[in-house]
Amino acid sequence: MIVNSKEMLEKAKKEKYAVPHFNINNLEWTRYILETCEEMRSPVILGVSEGATKYIGGFNTVVGIIKGLVKDLNITIPVCIHVDHGSSVETCIKAIDAGYTSVMIDASKYSLEENIKMTTEVVEYAKEKNVTVEAEIGHIGGTEDEIDSDIAYAKVNDVIELVSKTNVDSIAPALGSVHGLYKGEPKLDFERMKTISEKVNIPLVLHGGTGIYDDLIKKAISCGVCKININTELQIVWTEAVRKFLLDNSEVFDPRKIIGAGKEAMKNKIKEKITLFGSSNKY
Ligand code: 13P
Repeated sequence: MIVNSKEMLEKAKKEKYAVPHFNINNLEWTRYILETCEEMRSPVILGVSEGATKYIGGFNTVVGIIKGLVKDLNITIPVCIHVDHGSSVETCIKAIDAGYTSVMIDASKYSLEENIKMTTEVVEYAKEKNVTVEAEIGHIGGTEDEIDSDIAYAKVNDVIELVSKTNVDSIAPALGSVHGLYKGEPKLDFERMKTISEKVNIPLVLHGGTGIYDDLIKKAISCGVCKININTELQIVWTEAVRKFLLDNSEVFDPRKIIGAGKEAMKNKIKEKITLFGSSNKY
C-alpha cells in the first residue's frame, strides 16, 4: 500500500518506535527492502536522493519501479515514496507530480527566513496533493552524494519558528549526526532533541543513522525521533558481499547473480535495523 508518511509517523510517535527510512539505488535494492519489510510487518519509507533519482532514470522511473514491485510482490505494509534532501522547490514539485507521496525540502544551507519561505512553498503545493513534507534545520554533517559538509547544531527557537510558520509534517533538526561514516564518536545533543520534540510536537527525523550505537538510537527514539535514515550501512554490507562473491567466483558474468550476491547481507541488515527501531509487527 503506497501512502504518505503522516499516519505511519504519528503512530510511531504515539507508540515510541521509529519508522525506517532506507535509501534506494536501484530496482534490486528496492525489492530487497520491500520484501524484508513485508516479512517483518514494518512500515517503510523509501528515500531517494536527487543523485539516486538521476541514476535510476528520473522521478517517473522511481515511482514506476516502486508501484510495480508493490503490486507484483503483493506488498501490503505501508510504503512511502520520499525525496531525500530535495535541494529546491522545483525538485519537490517535480517529484510530487510524478507520484512521490512525501518530500524533504532541504533548505538548511540558507538563512532561516529563506528556509521558511522555501519550505512554505513546498508545503502549500504538497498539501493539495496529500503529500507530506519534511524540512531540515541546522546542518547535518558528513558526506552524501559525494558532497562534504560540517555539522551545525539546530537552535531550539529556530526550529520552533520554522515548524510553526510552515506547518511542515516532520522536522530533521541537525543535532550532531552525520551522513556516512563517523570520524570519532557521534556527539548527539539529546537534551536539545527532547526539548525540541516537546516544543514542536511533530515527529523528529534522525539523519545519518549509520554508525550511531544501538543504545544511542534507542535514546533518540525515547527523545521523540520517529524516523531514522539509513543509507551507508546498506551500501557497505552489499558491497562487501558482492566483492567477496566476485573474488570467489571469477567465472560468473550473469549480472543477476552478481547483484543478487548482496541480497542476504542486505536483508539481514534491514532486519537488524527494524528490530532495533522497534517497527516490526506494527501492521
Ligand atoms: P547514512 O549515510 O549515515 O546512513 O545516512 C543516511 C541519511 O541520512 C540519508 O538522508
